[in-house]
Amino acid sequence: MNRKEFIFKSGIRSASLLFATHTHFLSSKISKINKRSQNNWATDLEIQIDKLRISQLGNEFIWGVANAAFQVEGATKVDNKLTSIWDDFSQKKGNIKNGDTAEQATDFYHRYAEDIKLTKELGFSHFRFSISWSRVVSEDLYTENPLGINYYIQILKEIKAAGLNAWVTIYHWDLPSIIEKQGGWSNRRIIEYFKRFVEICANHFGEYTDRWFIVNEPAAFTALGYLSGYHAPGKKNPFAYLKSVHHVCLSIAEAGRLLRIKCPQKKIGIAYSYSVVHAEEPSDSKAANRVDAFLNRLFVEPFLGLGYPDQDLPALKRLKNYLEPGDEDRLKFNFDFVGVQYYFRVVVGRSSWVPFFGGREIPASKRNVATNSMLREIYPEGLYNCLMRFKDYGFEDIVVSENGVCYRDEVKEGQILDSKRIEFFQSHLDQLVRAKTEGVPINGYFVWSLTDNFEWSEGYSDRFGIVYIDYSTQKRIIKNSGYWWQNLLTTPSR
Ligand code: FCB
Repeated sequence: MNRKEFIFKSGIRSASLLFATHTHFLSSKISKINKRSQNNWATDLEIQIDKLRISQLGNEFIWGVANAAFQVEGATKVDNKLTSIWDDFSQKKGNIKNGDTAEQATDFYHRYAEDIKLTKELGFSHFRFSISWSRVVSEDLYTENPLGINYYIQILKEIKAAGLNAWVTIYHWDLPSIIEKQGGWSNRRIIEYFKRFVEICANHFGEYTDRWFIVNEPAAFTALGYLSGYHAPGKKNPFAYLKSVHHVCLSIAEAGRLLRIKCPQKKIGIAYSYSVVHAEEPSDSKAANRVDAFLNRLFVEPFLGLGYPDQDLPALKRLKNYLEPGDEDRLKFNFDFVGVQYYFRVVVGRSSWVPFFGGREIPASKRNVATNSMLREIYPEGLYNCLMRFKDYGFEDIVVSENGVCYRDEVKEGQILDSKRIEFFQSHLDQLVRAKTEGVPINGYFVWSLTDNFEWSEGYSDRFGIVYIDYSTQKRIIKNSGYWWQNLLTTPSR
């Protein structure tokens, strides 16, 4: 490695430490929630106010819940499933908080029918889940694994039988280890493997799937997996990171074209992470722009024909090293809709010692703001900012494909009184309505998540569900926030 490369490498590495944690969240005006103790619901009045406001979203508005294969399924070694990078990563000591693993998770593998039923009972009309690549292919990565395929067909049939819509995420981070052994996303060969995976999904699940998300949060799984090493596969290598960025983008565009041919009636989208980035002081705005390019723009603009945002983040100019002739055109793809996932705000202060970014994150704990249990700021207005950004890009069909909050919920006398989570949803739905009334084509909202689940490197202690999981029995207990949603979605407004 020459000196330039070294500076580059150490720079990206230290900068990546800024974004090492995968966590979330926000603050706000918090309205006082009263409970009717006999049935756990927020008061009629509270709900009534919400309903009037929320009715501005229209009758066609889509309400759903979301989860992801590795976070819920468990059953990691059954029905000829291959090992995934998350199986490997969570076996290594120190990678996951409290040494948790996803071997059981919420046992969705066996209990999906119960969770789909709950989704319906709580009043949601859409169920979003992901396909585990490791379940549907055999070791050569081309031959199908009928047992895995059949499992997902059963889920899809159950969703349909419940009268719900199925929105399928094709890739939500659990790459087969066999591919990682060849470099994973940093090896250009993955484009062909991914196309085969997508083809299998289209052939077998296309009939039941209402919409596709090709991947979930590409900015997160590339940076956390290959740069900061905080997620699987745990690499800290800026060169592997940059290669991965480009190969992920090419894979997405190729997959989009394939789905278009295979499932011409079905809408094709992507789920983006978005963190509103603010400068601590006006003079820090350039640093904030660099961080914004890294977190929020990198995986949006190439598909729009705008290229990688290397004007605002010059370190990305190195991506050119990995482009082959014709790649710039191959990157272009028109999504039918876009999913945005908003959890928290990032505040950046200037810091000349952090190469390439010239800025560092000012943690929420130093800013005296409301946080979730992972100490991420709760900042509802960020959802509005996020939606305005995607409107400005020109997207005509936008959904919030994930939004939610984690706390360390406890069961007391059989109940989970999570009023802070209700406040979270209320304040974020307010921002949704605000965006809608200002002309954003926002058409849906998915709660993350139906149940508590395995929160990647954070394990099980921070809970995102509106339904509590007792991990010792796998019993599902509806939290107060779950009842709040049920009341909102199933009782008519007066
Ligand atoms: C999102 C991920 C999802 C979950 C939530 C809390 O970034 O897409 O899997 O971890 O955060």
